[in-house]
Amino acid sequence: MPESQTNLAWDVLLDLAVQGTGPQHEQLARALRSAIRDEVLPVGTALPPSRKLAADLSCSRWLVTQAYAQLVAEGYLAAQTGSATRVAWSPDRDGRRPTASRPPTPAARYDLTPGLPDLRAFPRRRWAEALRDTLATMPHTEFGVPARGGHPRLRAVLAEYLRRCRGALASADDITICSGVTEGMTQVSRALKAAGITTIAAEDPSWGRTRHAAASAGLAVQPIPVDEDGLRVDQLSGFRAVIVTPAHQFPTGTVLAPARRAALVEWARDVDGLILEDDYDAEFRYDRRPVGTLQGMDRAHTALFGSVSKTLSPALGIGWYLLPPVWTDLVRAGSAPPVADQLALASYIESGGYDRQLRAVRLRYRARRDALVAALAEHLPDARISGVAAGLHLLLHLDGVTENLVRRAADAGLRLTDLAVYEVSPSEGSTLVIGYGNLADNAVVPAVTLLAALLRR
Ligand SMILES: Cc1ncc(COP(=O)(O)O)c(C=O)c1O
Repeated sequence: MPESQTNLAWDVLLDLAVQGTGPQHEQLARALRSAIRDEVLPVGTALPPSRKLAADLSCSRWLVTQAYAQLVAEGYLAAQTGSATRVAWSPDRDGRRPTASRPPTPAARYDLTPGLPDLRAFPRRRWAEALRDTLATMPHTEFGVPARGGHPRLRAVLAEYLRRCRGALASADDITICSGVTEGMTQVSRALKAAGITTIAAEDPSWGRTRHAAASAGLAVQPIPVDEDGLRVDQLSGFRAVIVTPAHQFPTGTVLAPARRAALVEWARDVDGLILEDDYDAEFRYDRRPVGTLQGMDRAHTALFGSVSKTLSPALGIGWYLLPPVWTDLVRAGSAPPVADQLALASYIESGGYDRQLRAVRLRYRARRDALVAALAEHLPDARISGVAAGLHLLLHLDGVTENLVRRAADAGLRLTDLAVYEVSPSEGSTLVIGYGNLADNAVVPAVTLLAALLRR
């Protein structure tokens, strides 16, 4: 049974101010009721004695006893002589809140969903060293209020990294540190809205979370098709902003063709618009050097977004964006990741550790992709693979319609993702987006064999 909660900040918890109108004891009852319904106060929680709560809330004791009595009458609370009044109701037990009644999905033996880098490869030792050294040596002044928009040292280190590795035109002043691409897109989308841009174009198919980031900022998101040369730039007329993944389109795996890159930059200049360039996994190209950023072609009309979600781990929650100078003042940065983490990343990059890690995992992913392609060729010879040799996923086009494949596979312990998940306008046919980033090397062949067996059934 939960302990007595008499030391809680009840005035904050109950937030009387937002409870609306009516007599004060009704407001308090309403606040308690919703705290119980939302399970902020779970069943069994002891409420403070009425005298104590009255003192905390600066109100009369009578008001509190009235509110308690009301909730006892409604069954939310139970009062016992000589003991604390306790929460007596739980939403689930009462069936008022629908409980998730789906049968638990069995833990997948093989997970081919895209998204994660190899979590086993996370450089624990190096990261721990960077973090420990940072904490041991950072001046005490760094423990003060963090700089908005990120620590200047990480911004400078990232500017150098983006110039060197991504061909970006970056200076520390133009960089904002945030928790990831999604968060960065949300902040920039808000600024677009504030600047009077109401609609944004986005690739179709694309990652739903970046589309959602723009929509959550109040922008109307319009899908623009993608073909084998990437985004159909010819369909951008009427727009002033677009979200695009030019180095490695997600999820089709194409690279924006040179003529399209030029056309996209020309479009942005013509309409004085903004290209939101999502550079999410550009470091991983296996057949040649990665193409440079569009931002490097036109810094005045491109916002570049990146994060360590694919290179190290999404759990670190560190990302950045690089804005054209005219936009820098319009975007209101949110809170950046913890200062020690930012400084640890800065020193990890400065020491060369980040580059070494990227070289090591690039080899690992390349070998894994080769093994996957070979296994698919052997066990599913009629299926077609598409997407350049890059990133952490590929597309697998299956022959014919595959009824309930994703569900049947899940039942058999294999997690799959249908391309339709990323499509605004679902296409015909059966295509899977196969992620191999976090697939153990020894799981490649068994996972493909299982998929082939399911398709034969
Ligand atoms: C297309 C795309 N963009 C960006 C990201 C990274 O987003 P974040 O930095 O918010 O983790 C992902 C991660 O899966 C992605 O698939």
